[in-house]
Amino acid sequence: MSPEKSRPTVLIARALLPAGRELLAAEAELREGGLDATPERIAELAGGVEAIVADPTVRVDDALFDAAGPGLRVVANFAVGTDNIDLEACRARGIPATNTPDVLTNATAELALALTLAAARGATGAERTLRAGEWSGWDPGAFLGLELSGATFAVIGLGRIGYRYAELVRPLAGELLYVSRAPNRRAEDELGAERAELSEALQRADVVSLHVPASPETHHLIGAAELEAMLSHAVLVNTARGPIVDARALAAALQSGEIGGAGLDVYEAEPDVPEELLEAPCCTLLPHIGSATTRARDGMARTAAQNVLAVLGGDEPPNRVV
Ligand code: NAP
Ligand code: GLV
Repeated sequence: MSPEKSRPTVLIARALLPAGRELLAAEAELREGGLDATPERIAELAGGVEAIVADPTVRVDDALFDAAGPGLRVVANFAVGTDNIDLEACRARGIPATNTPDVLTNATAELALALTLAAARGATGAERTLRAGEWSGWDPGAFLGLELSGATFAVIGLGRIGYRYAELVRPLAGELLYVSRAPNRRAEDELGAERAELSEALQRADVVSLHVPASPETHHLIGAAELEAMLSHAVLVNTARGPIVDARALAAALQSGEIGGAGLDVYEAEPDVPEELLEAPCCTLLPHIGSATTRARDGMARTAAQNVLAVLGGDEPPNRVV
């Protein structure tokens, strides 16, 4: 940006880590909502800005665009998922929306692996017993979990994170299934993965890990019928988005023993976690921390800032979604 031009104003709807914030502050005036910013406060701050940095908790839609006014040139999500953004509204108004792919792929796939292992071995319940002072000593028949060596894994959605998860579990897996809208020859050649329909994958897998984005097509992709189709010892892992799983049906399946366990990082109406899930057995619940490593979050902050600065500088943003 040329120094003689007046500095643009960028709204950071909630908060951006210094790795990205400092890049923006060097080129633009910043307005910041803070972590407790309400939609009303964000709309109030948006008036007249040229760029908005959003995150998965910030709804970006016509109402926010109207509040921002005609000078808005880009919405940069501080996340790879863009289900918080009305992409059709962006298209209709010609406002580019960007995201932060790749930099969080390892972190999120690793967390999915952590949830897989924790759910398979009932780690949360076992730790709860110990912390409550209820552990009475080594018991050959207690806390028996699912051994994953040789297990059949099903990866639902073989994109960046799904593929990395498949790579991480490959050394453990007997069979590796993937559910995808198109065949993935690389996964078949390099990982020995086998493409399957969702219904078949659910019937065969010991571990089912979800990596599709939230969309109308994936809403409650896993509901009562799908849980019933799963093996009674199988583990379901969701690091993708809450609405992909019918939480009430999942809690019922865990209570009845229809499936063996679950590991969840995401929920339908975050930060609310349904009471049924809190009470369900064999369930490890984490507070949406898939990308929460310093490396990934710094990378995300930097990427979001670079996308904003590219558009404000008249260039194509590196991570344009629409
Ligand atoms: P990605 O590379 O776009 O992968 C998504 C994959 O899902 C794509 O391969 C896509 O296939 C596939 N897909 C979409 N709809 C499908 C369907 N109905 N059936 C089967 N496959 C379908 O995205 P990513 O970087 O891996 O991220 C995936 C998601 O993870 C994000 O959207 C986000 O919601 C979530 N996430 C969560 C955290 C966390 O903190 N827990 C962190 C990062 C990401 P096509 O190529 O055919 O579209
Ligand atoms: C986090 O949930 C993301 O989509 O990056």
